[in-house]
Amino acid sequence: MILDYAEINDLNRYKIMSDTVVPRPIAWVVTEDDGILNAAPFSYFIPISSNPATLIIAIGEKEEGIPKDSLANILKTKKATICFANKDNVDKVKLSSTMLAKEQSEILEYGIDVEKVLEDFPPMISSSQSALFCEYYDTVKIPGKTTPVILEIKKQFIEDDRINEKMHIKVDNVGRSGVFFKAMVDL
Ligand SMILES: Cc1cc2nc3c(=O)[nH]c(=O)nc-3n(C[C@H](O)[C@H](O)[C@H](O)COP(=O)(O)O)c2cc1C
Repeated sequence: MILDYAEINDLNRYKIMSDTVVPRPIAWVVTEDDGILNAAPFSYFIPISSNPATLIIAIGEKEEGIPKDSLANILKTKKATICFANKDNVDKVKLSSTMLAKEQSEILEYGIDVEKVLEDFPPMISSSQSALFCEYYDTVKIPGKTTPVILEIKKQFIEDDRINEKMHIKVDNVGRSGVFFKAMVDL
C-alpha cells in the first residue's frame, strides 16, 4: 500500500508518522522563565550533527498563534536542559505533558525532583541518567504550527558508572513508539 500524504489530514499524518518512526527518543525539556520551571516531553527530537553538537526538537503551539511554554522559554532565555526518560520516571514524563498555564510549573505541580548542576543552565531532573545542557542555535522555518528549533549541546551530565574509558555510554532510556513508551532491549 502506498500512503499519499497529499490525501492524509494532519491528525492521521501524526498517527502514521509517530507509529512508523519508532522508537523515537524523548527529550524531557526543562526550561525557565522568571523563576518558573517548566518541564515537558518532546518526541519530534533527534541529534543532527556532532560538530557543532546540535539536535533538533519540533515544538507545536499551545493554541492558535501561542507557542508551547517550552518554545517560548527557549526563544526568550536561549537555554534548555534536555533530560531523558527511564522506567523509574516515565509516569512523571506523562504527567508533565499536561498543558498547564504558563505561570504554573510542572516541576512543582507534579513533584518532580530537580538539581541545579550548572549555574548557567536550567536544572536537570534528578532521576535522569544523563542530561544535555543546551543553548539555542537556530530555528528552521517551515509552514504550519510547528517550530523546529536547533539547540547546541554545551555540556552533558552522565552518571559516573554509565561512561567507560572509551567514551562509550550506556543509558536505559525509554522511547516513544506510537502512543506507547518502550524500553530498549539488547540484541
Ligand atoms: C511522549 C510525548 C512526546 C511528545 N512530543 C511532542 C513533540 O514532539 N512536539 C510537541 O509539540 N508536543 C509533544 N508532546 C506534547 C507536549 O509534551 C505537551 O503539549 C506539553 O504540554 C507542552 O508543554 P509546555 O507548554 O510546557 O511546553 C509530547 C507528549 C508526550 C507525552
